[in-house]
Amino acid sequence: MQQGQPMIVMSEDAQRVKDKDAQDYNISAARAVAEAVRSTLGPKGMDKMLVDSMGSVTITNDGVTILQEMDIDNPTAEMIIEVAETQEDEAGDGTTTAVAIAGELLKNAEDLLEQDIHPTAIIKGFHLASEQAREEIDDIARDVDTDDEDLLRSVAETSMTGKGAEVNKEHLSQLIVDAVRSVTVENDAGENVVDLEFLNIETQTGRSVGESDLLEGGIVDKDPVHDNMPTAAENADILLLNQPIEVEETDVDTEVSVTDPDQLQKFLDREEKQLKEKVEAIADLGADVVFCQKGIDDLAQHYLAKEGILAVRRAKKSDLEFLKEVVDASIVSDLESATTEDLGHGDVTRDDEDELFYVEGEGAHGVTLLLRGSTDHVVDELERGINDALDVVAQTVSDGRVLAGGGAIEVELASRLRDYADSVSGREQLAVEAYADSLELVPRVLAENAGLDSIDTLVDLRAAHDEGDVTAGLNVFSNDVEDTFEAGVVEPAHAKEQAVTSASEAANLVLKIDDIISAGDLSTDKGGDEEGGAPGGAPGGMGGMGGGMGGMM
Ligand SMILES: Nc1ncnc2c1ncn2[C@@H]1O[C@H](COP(=O)(O)OP(=O)(O)OP(=O)(O)O)[C@@H](O)[C@H]1O
Ligand SMILES: [Mg+2]
Repeated sequence: MQQGQPMIVMSEDAQRVKDKDAQDYNISAARAVAEAVRSTLGPKGMDKMLVDSMGSVTITNDGVTILQEMDIDNPTAEMIIEVAETQEDEAGDGTTTAVAIAGELLKNAEDLLEQDIHPTAIIKGFHLASEQAREEIDDIARDVDTDDEDLLRSVAETSMTGKGAEVNKEHLSQLIVDAVRSVTVENDAGENVVDLEFLNIETQTGRSVGESDLLEGGIVDKDPVHDNMPTAAENADILLLNQPIEVEETDVDTEVSVTDPDQLQKFLDREEKQLKEKVEAIADLGADVVFCQKGIDDLAQHYLAKEGILAVRRAKKSDLEFLKEVVDASIVSDLESATTEDLGHGDVTRDDEDELFYVEGEGAHGVTLLLRGSTDHVVDELERGINDALDVVAQTVSDGRVLAGGGAIEVELASRLRDYADSVSGREQLAVEAYADSLELVPRVLAENAGLDSIDTLVDLRAAHDEGDVTAGLNVFSNDVEDTFEAGVVEPAHAKEQAVTSASEAANLVLKIDDIISAGDLSTDKGGDEEGGAPGGAPGGMGGMGGGMGGMM
């Protein structure tokens, strides 16, 4: 090879963006994601309407749902979405907060980069600050009595307001607290363990949200397969079947040619016999009720009715899985090898109005939260809000540490981190301060979304915290800076710890990149871009998002 000639190792289509350009590119992509969810933060946050490529519509306020439904195709933006997903998995709530803080961290990092501070120093500073923030959260958090129902209700309300639960929040928060408590057990070490596996959420449209209810056991939203079957059974032996009660089909396509009517009759007789045997097997087991995940042949339905067995076909797999816990049964996938041990025991009753079965078990536990709402969109958003609330109440019951919300915790953390920054030497100190500023985004946005002046609110909050009011926050219902803990705006500490950690880890991941090598084109906007590459302009792939979401933000 000749000296001095560059060696080309990348294909012609490949693009490469380096150093400052790479940082700019990444930071603007990440910030675009954070901007997209900001306006949904808090009870007064707005919703977004997301229309997917098939035209189906989701209306939501839930950070993680918005980001997952948005058709984002940008690698950096996807890293930020992962923050939301981690937050959802680990804490169940606070996804908007985590993403918004990550965006703000990057915005402030950009300023530091402008001042020629090396990314390594920023990364170190952010890391120190987030470790310190976790310690401070633990210090600030109040230990609460996990039997304190009022407090648990407040935690539920704080989490679900803004997600379609406003009007009925007292009723719903009580249902949530009751639901969590009914699936809480104390372990040998005396700790509360909440097992949300034993909690099933069912949704029904047509009635008002206020008619949502908590039921012992499970429900099956199906009709009996035959009119002559009983519709209820007390003290019943229940079979959960994952096998069709139909004539077994051969694996290969077969053709049977008959030459005289007798042969045909024989053939039909054989099928009839097979079905009869299946039903007899069920009757011999002693089952009074059969919930079958697969189909049931017409003739088999008739035999089952004759045996006085209540049978339901095409039950949902998830329902069967849940009923298994409720009635303490096994799911049978082969009738021939089934034994009485596989049967569950409990009461099955019929709700004629709603056309569904209630199944209550003996001994084993499990509850169903039946959410109602007028339309699918209402119920879907309610379900997301309820899911968040269940998670945070469960966390509070098992962890016992809570914080004042409405930005109180963020302002207090910021103030403590600024003190801590004094002890940090070098340029990292500036990063710790930038971290503190970033946390204050939460009260600023809460104020903004409530139509208040964010600067005034922040000034008031800082003043209150300087006076020592650790729990001073913004209550967007009274629009006042007040003790939000007393006002019932309460959040679990664990979710906040997770939010600050994942936000800073995501920011650091983005900051660490100084070279983007892409096999394809990074910019969707081909040509006409004088800067020649993606940096400075809209990051690749974000163009579509900006356009698609533009009307809603
Ligand atoms: N009455 C209130 N006044 C002020 N702030 C409130 C009030 N109720 C809740 N908040 C605050 O709203 C924030 C939570 O808002 P929201 O539920 O929209 O976002 P998130 O929990 O971060 O994300 P998501 O719920 O989308 O996963 C928290 O900071 C909480 O303290
Ligand atoms: Mg929330």
